[in-house]
This record gives sequence, structure tokens and C-alpha cells, in this order.
Amino acid sequence: MSRAVALVTGANRGLGYETAKQLLARGWSVLVAARDRDSGEAAARALGKGARFVALDVTERESVTALSKQLDAPLSALVNNAGSSFDGFDVSVARRTLEVNYRGPLRVTDTLADKLAPGANVVMVSSAMGELSRFSPELRRRFLDESLGRSELAGLVSEFVERVGRGELGGFPRNAYSVSKAALNAFTRIAARELEPRGVRVNAICPGWVRTRMGGNGAARSLEQGASGIVWAATLGEGGPSGGFFRDGRAIDW
Ligand SMILES: NC(=O)c1ccc[n+]([C@@H]2O[C@H](COP(=O)([O-])OP(=O)(O)OC[C@H]3O[C@@H](n4cnc5c(N)ncnc54)[C@H](OP(=O)(O)O)[C@@H]3O)[C@@H](O)[C@H]2O)c1
Repeated sequence: MSRAVALVTGANRGLGYETAKQLLARGWSVLVAARDRDSGEAAARALGKGARFVALDVTERESVTALSKQLDAPLSALVNNAGSSFDGFDVSVARRTLEVNYRGPLRVTDTLADKLAPGANVVMVSSAMGELSRFSPELRRRFLDESLGRSELAGLVSEFVERVGRGELGGFPRNAYSVSKAALNAFTRIAARELEPRGVRVNAICPGWVRTRMGGNGAARSLEQGASGIVWAATLGEGGPSGGFFRDGRAIDW
């Protein structure tokens, strides 16, 4: 039997690398996607048999398209893990953060959608920082509206950037990372609806606060603990949940 194939973005280090490691230990093949060739190739070498480096910058349309053309075997899992947190708070930080953490996974998921095997799992590595309790009740209502579609979500995201420029946040948190993850969560619900007819599950995961370059040395959780919830969502079988937000395999509030 051929091995299940996963593609993990930002797999050269941190949670992406550990997710690849745990999937390989389960007998999967893993495409180790990274924007930096040297560290991506080094990671694939360190991970060993079944791991292969593929170049991917999630913010570059050409890079995502080139990767898509290169894929032969269908993917059993797509793990949208790559993410960034930038210092400061202004329009440029808001734009760059949304580009990596929200538009990146959206672009990768849309471009690779026809490479997903029936019954595949798409995992959005999100964060409790994206919880809607950080937003005004009115924005919470707009994000959670059942009829929220792609254009309404794009509108909410543009409104945030405009408001940051005006210095008048109108109920959005003063944190671009939080807004990017809330938008990613909303896209998770939309993509889950869209891909349901093909039996593809789409879930958002909070790994908890994990010791990585982003999380810092003082974080409460190990890489192994953080990645295990991602691997849980990447390996769900028939009848598994879709369109949810989970930590350690348990549903949490949006
Ligand atoms: N650590 C935590 O406590 C925590 C908590 C909640 C959620 N998360 C989420 O978990 C995910 C992984 O974070 P981490 O903690 O493992 O952080 P990390 O060690 O800083 O790793 C981030 C990864 O994303 C990659 N990346 C950034 N921008 C990219 C782009 N444009 N294209 C492709 N790859 C890109 C980085 O590549 P380079 O090496 O090239 O920079 C790196 O591989 C992120 O989505 C993060 O938001 C982390």
C-alpha cells in the first residue's frame, strides 16, 4: 500500500518540523515545505526517510502555483502551519501579518484544493490569540454570522487595516496577529463548507503556548505537546469533525 502524503508549510523549524517528525513516525511521507532552501533541505535531511523538501513562500502566488504543478501523489493532509508575528502595530505590520497568517493559508488551500485526496484533512494552525472574546460583540456577531462568505470576510479584514490607518479600531483588538488568526478561523469554517462534498475535513487548531522561536523559551508547552494536536487533526478519519476549533483534540470556543 502506498504511504499517505502530508504537506506541512513552515516545516523547516518549530511546530511544522515537529509535526512532520510525528507524521513520519506514523509511517506517512511528508513534503517539508519551507521558503528558505538551505534550512528546508537541512530539515528534510534531518527528518530522514520519507521526508522531501519543497520550496514554498506562502505569500508568493508564483511560489504556491509552482509547488502545485510539482505535486504528483494526492495529499492526505495539508497542514497550514507557516506563520509570523511581527513587532509593533501599524498599517504595515497589519498588512504583513494578514498576508502570512490569513491570505497565505487561504492561497495555499485554494491552489492545492484539487490535489487533496477524497477524505483528506486540512489543518489551519491557529491560536487562542484569535479568539473572538477579544473583539466587540458586534464584530463577534459579524465574524460568526452563518452567512459569512469569502467577500464578507475579505471586507472585515480590509476594514481592520483601514481602521489601523485611521487610529480608530472600532472594536478590533490592538493586535494584528489576533485579527489574522480570527480571520483564519473564519476561513476554516468557510473552507469546511466548501470542501465537505469531497469528504475533505478542515479544522483549526490551537497548539497552546509552545517553546519555539515564536513562543519563546518561557512557553509552557514542549514541541511534542504542541504538535500532537496538529497531528490529531491531520490524521482524522471518516466521521471525524470538520469546521471546528480544537486544542489537544477537544473543541474550544472561536
Ligand atoms: N509557538 C506558539 O506558542 C504558538 C501558539 C499558537 C499558535 N502558533 C502558530 O504555530 C505556527 C508555527 O509557529 P512556531 O511557533 O513553530 O513558530 P516559528 O518557530 O517561528 O516557525 C514559523 C515557521 O513559519 C515559517 N514562515 C513564516 N513566514 C513564511 C512564509 N511567508 N512562507 C513560508 N513559511 C513561512 C517560518 O519560516 P522561516 O524559518 O523561513 O522564517 C517557520 O518555518 C504559526 O502559525 C503560529 O502562529 C504558535
